[in-house]
Amino acid sequence: MREQLEQIRSRALAELAAEATESAIEDVRVRVLGRAGELTEIMRGMREVPAQERPAIGQLVNQIKTELEARIEALQGKLKEAALERSLTEARLDVTLPGAKIPRGHLHPITLTIENMLRIFNAMGFEIVATRDIEDDFHNFAALNFPPDHPAREMQDTFFLGGGLLLRTHTSNGQIRVMEQRRPPLAIVCPGNCYRRDELSVRASPMFSQIEGFMVDRAGRITMAHLKGVLTEFLRAFFGSDTAVRFRASFFPFTEPSAEVDISCLLCGGKGCRICKHSGWTEILGSGMIHPNVLRAVGYDPAEYQGFAFGLGVDRTALLRLGVEDMRLFFENDVRFLGQFPASNERFA
Ligand code: PHE
Repeated sequence: MREQLEQIRSRALAELAAEATESAIEDVRVRVLGRAGELTEIMRGMREVPAQERPAIGQLVNQIKTELEARIEALQGKLKEAALERSLTEARLDVTLPGAKIPRGHLHPITLTIENMLRIFNAMGFEIVATRDIEDDFHNFAALNFPPDHPAREMQDTFFLGGGLLLRTHTSNGQIRVMEQRRPPLAIVCPGNCYRRDELSVRASPMFSQIEGFMVDRAGRITMAHLKGVLTEFLRAFFGSDTAVRFRASFFPFTEPSAEVDISCLLCGGKGCRICKHSGWTEILGSGMIHPNVLRAVGYDPAEYQGFAFGLGVDRTALLRLGVEDMRLFFENDVRFLGQFPASNERFA
């Protein structure tokens, strides 16, 4: 019996060597100490042991049991420590490493241009009102005094949508939409996209941005002089006071008299380039005194009210202001190009 016990003990201890794996340890534990294990079996067979030897054998069993349990515990503790150590090294995080830089986006240069223009008009007391891109013939043409056979209505200019609807060809629909709803005094700017069936080129695009502006009050209060004053003030604020501005008599169905406004070409400084068609000047807006027929169309009495209106092309203005030579760059969305203008706000500041 004693020999048997010594055998169990030395075999178990040999198996519980320093490099024993978790499963090897568990095997020994079950085989020796388990409920049907070798030591339990011996205890069960105690009856056959002569009475005087029983206490000594019992003691030895307990001794071996305690010894093996302690050994197992020590080995398991070591394994646990090693596992923890391993996971700590693997997941090590160096908090002193520099972080990855997340590139920051910014508004499109055209959007920034619109915002800067609106800020100037707003500071002059103009209210900002957005109207609609999808329009009907009345608000885009008829109410603006376009005769039924006017060439601007033709297919090559206008995108017709069917059902009497079209994509607005200018923001002048904003005049009609606002005046239909409200009574003077009005000082309003309407920014928005416009659409014409033009090819995308160095200086034109089938979709472009305009800012419409108008000011209406009792007859005699608002004159052509106010129109010139407001626009000159705006252009000086936007382009700088050294930019030359000229008013040129023109024609629009919805204004009388009408004037187009040119500024000296900022790209070539007036020498002539492909953007200014080699004239040294660039046309950036149309304007005039609101035609009596337009006032009538919105239910105003032209003897009672009078006002001016203007429509400013944003894209070409942005192009000049930012020194870009080709309109197409604005619409190709190449981030290498767009990324050059994150500081546009500062340039306008
Ligand atoms: N709607 C005109 C255009 O698109 C611009 C304009 C607006 C002219 C208001 C006069 C008054 O060219």
